[in-house]
Amino acid sequence: MANPLDVVILAAGKGVRMRSRIPKVLHPLAGLPLLEHVLSAASSLQPATTVVVVGPGGQAIREAFSNRRVTFVDQGEPLGTGHAVLAAREAVSAPLLVVLPGDVPLVPPQALQELVEFHLKNKFIVSFLSLELPEPGRYGRVVRQEGQVVRIVEANDASPAELAIREVNSGIFCLSNRPELWEALAGLSRGNAQGEYYLTDLVEKFAPGGGVGALPWSPAEDLLGVNDRLDLARLEGILQGRLARGLMQAGVSIPHPQAVYLSPKAKVGQDTVLWPHTYLWGETQVGEGCEIGPGTFLLDSHVAAGARVWFSVLEGAMVEEEARVGPYAHLRPGARIGRRARVGNFVEVKNAQLGEGVKAGHLAYIGDAEVGPHANIGAGAITCNYDGIRKHRTEIGAGAFIGTNAALVAPIRIGEGAYVAAGSVVTQDVPPYALALARPPQHIKPGWAKGRGESDG
Ligand code: UD1
Ligand code: MG
Repeated sequence: MANPLDVVILAAGKGVRMRSRIPKVLHPLAGLPLLEHVLSAASSLQPATTVVVVGPGGQAIREAFSNRRVTFVDQGEPLGTGHAVLAAREAVSAPLLVVLPGDVPLVPPQALQELVEFHLKNKFIVSFLSLELPEPGRYGRVVRQEGQVVRIVEANDASPAELAIREVNSGIFCLSNRPELWEALAGLSRGNAQGEYYLTDLVEKFAPGGGVGALPWSPAEDLLGVNDRLDLARLEGILQGRLARGLMQAGVSIPHPQAVYLSPKAKVGQDTVLWPHTYLWGETQVGEGCEIGPGTFLLDSHVAAGARVWFSVLEGAMVEEEARVGPYAHLRPGARIGRRARVGNFVEVKNAQLGEGVKAGHLAYIGDAEVGPHANIGAGAITCNYDGIRKHRTEIGAGAFIGTNAALVAPIRIGEGAYVAAGSVVTQDVPPYALALARPPQHIKPGWAKGRGESDG
């Protein structure tokens, strides 16, 4: 049974060092907003309530996470991390609070679990995770006396001796929800270099009674914060390295792991090869024995076993077993490429199902369509699905042959086994096994060019 606790995520800060119009917690890491990573760590604790404290940029954050079971609290003018936790007071009621900075995205669930156990076992009022850094930079330093934590000093307020301390505050706290806690938060002072109410000042308040503990966590990489874009790039590198390692250990080949981008949600089957410059973004799933890339972008797409996709862009698409996609195909939402089908050079498919063994090798647009098994879509064939107001469907029967440069004006049905002659503009349904020829007849004027005389230029 999980501990009865609430989580408070701090996401109201101005994020000045990002130099961005976008709130810091919406900046993506492995394709997902920082806050998404923190929320998924938080959910591992099974909190009774998850509170997200937002500030001036809060509207965008609320919109991006509107479908979540979280309570948003407005901090107003963000006056520091202590002020932010105080803003969540009315929204929490469990006996324990876990405070997560919105900018520490790699925290593993296990670290949070261990912090909660450490806090309960020692009956602390305030406990936090610390990390050791060879270059502690702007992190708050953990000051200990005879091994006991006595305070956290922010880098801007620290003496040279304190700046030399390598044990720093992760910003992840566990707090006992008691009246003394809220009194202490309400009594914080802004008399520091940044003029802010520091959450970290709680440590000095409760340390004398033995109410404070710091749990050192390693690897330190797990608890790094994102304060500027260099930090963001560094964490991207760490996370991508971990995700690629995880897949390789599970039997996926990644010949050049530095050149592959993975979402933490991506799943890949055994014996699949991911070639360089490939992205498996969002909720992408790739089956066993596939070859993906080089140069391929998959967003929220599914690729089944034995398929090959290269130099292509897939968004919300589905590729069935042993199909071949690319080079230079664009599969948009609702595209479904059947077993052993082929979709090749400069073919775009949107909201269309291609049956088993369909071939669309070159330069085609198939939108809002159903294409039966083993149909052949010639180069330059287009489903004219849009009349400027509405979208219309095209149905192409099994084994039909759509000639080069045919325009199929939807709504339209091409029957099973029918032929559409090259260059036809087809506006009426074509019965099964019929030939539709809808182009001007060819005229031959023998010798016509000979009598034309000389041109001026
Ligand atoms: C904070 C800690 C520092 C720690 C570091 C770890 C304080 C005073 N300092 O510094 O000891 O080493 O994190 O990463 O706590 N926020 C609000 N409202 C505010 C201010 C901040 O919600 O008024 C949020 C921010 O959006 C951010 C988090 O709190 O997600 C931390 O704030 P930030 O300004 O990044 O603090 P650091 O300087 O990183
Ligand atoms: Mg920070």
